[in-house]
Amino acid sequence: MNRILVTYATMAGSTAEVAQAMGEEIIKSGLQVDILPLGEVRDLETYDGVVIGGPMIMGWHRDALRFLKKYREAFQRIPLAVFVMAMSLTQTGETSVGDVPVYVDEDLPKPPEKEGSLNFRERYARLSKYLQPILKVIRPVKPVSMGIFGGRLEYGRLKWWAVLFVMLIIQAPAGERRNWTAIRSWAARLTAAFQNEATKASGLKQAS
Ligand SMILES: Cc1cc2nc3c(=O)[nH]c(=O)nc-3n(C[C@H](O)[C@H](O)[C@H](O)COP(=O)(O)O)c2cc1C
Repeated sequence: MNRILVTYATMAGSTAEVAQAMGEEIIKSGLQVDILPLGEVRDLETYDGVVIGGPMIMGWHRDALRFLKKYREAFQRIPLAVFVMAMSLTQTGETSVGDVPVYVDEDLPKPPEKEGSLNFRERYARLSKYLQPILKVIRPVKPVSMGIFGGRLEYGRLKWWAVLFVMLIIQAPAGERRNWTAIRSWAARLTAAFQNEATKASGLKQAS
């Protein structure tokens, strides 16, 4: 295990800084890391692990979904980790989706207004609702880990329709919600997760 790619989609720039911080953590474990926007990735074959992230923008960022779809075959061989940036998440106690362990930034989830019944907005912002579509595009591949973290929202950077959507559906106040401790600690554990996956895969190969 030598080389890891950290790649990201972004709308307003904050996910790029998150990818940078994650890359810095992975480098600490002695690996070579490339940190690139999705559009600059030419090939995955030289990588031993890929971390891909993007913000929720009415569903996970479309470019990130497209990227996963494009390289679905490659992810049968190269271990994958996925992170999602968001401003709204309903507290449901879920810690995995479709058998994939999910690390949830503890500052992000908000309990439902009424215990036992979720309103439209709360149903929309469930962990499974956010993550299932991501898992669907790469099926049968399963990421070694998924992480979901608070992001950054600045109305001044958005077009009017985006402001409207965020105000009506997300109902999240603007501001900085990135929890660098959570972001870095998830990233720091990825090297071990990638290594485990690689060991498992080579064991399977030898057995067959
Ligand atoms: C148009 C739009 C739609 C968004 N949709 C969601 C959403 O569905 N759920 C959520 O939790 N956050 C949503 N957000 C918040 C973003 O995911 C968050 O601000 C993110 O950190 C932005 O990352 P970026 O700076 O890399 O673009 C939305 C933001 C915008 C502008």
